[in-house]
Amino acid sequence: MPNLIRFGVSLEKVLLDRFDRLIREKRCPSRSEALRDLIREELVKKEWRAGQEVAGAVILVYNHHRRQLVDKLTDIQHDYHRFIVSSQHVHLSDDDCLEIIAVKGEVSKIRALADRMRAAKGVKYGTVALATTGRNLT
Ligand code: NI
Repeated sequence: MPNLIRFGVSLEKVLLDRFDRLIREKRCPSRSEALRDLIREELVKKEWRAGQEVAGAVILVYNHHRRQLVDKLTDIQHDYHRFIVSSQHVHLSDDDCLEIIAVKGEVSKIRALADRMRAAKGVKYGTVALATTGRNLT
């Protein structure tokens, strides 16, 4: 490989153990290859140009007893109501809720919406899966 650069990474043991488990599950040949895949994946996401339309889902798991969090998540969804196609709420357990929010719109708006929801204090798990619709909105 041309211009191959080695660098050290510091990680908590727990995180590294989980990463190694993930690598085995994905049958990835090495940590280096797994890391390269992750970096490429992130770069592809960033490469989506402003103005491009995307559609997908924001997925959240949170404790509904945290009323401030529930209010906050609702406020965010109202701020971005034009970009939310539908949402599904599942009561997972006595404490936890799963919310799947279908979204569609200009990529930077959708990213901002997803980032705000995932960053809300108390969200236990948050992820976003997006695909381009092939349309450009500019
Ligand atoms: Ni619920």
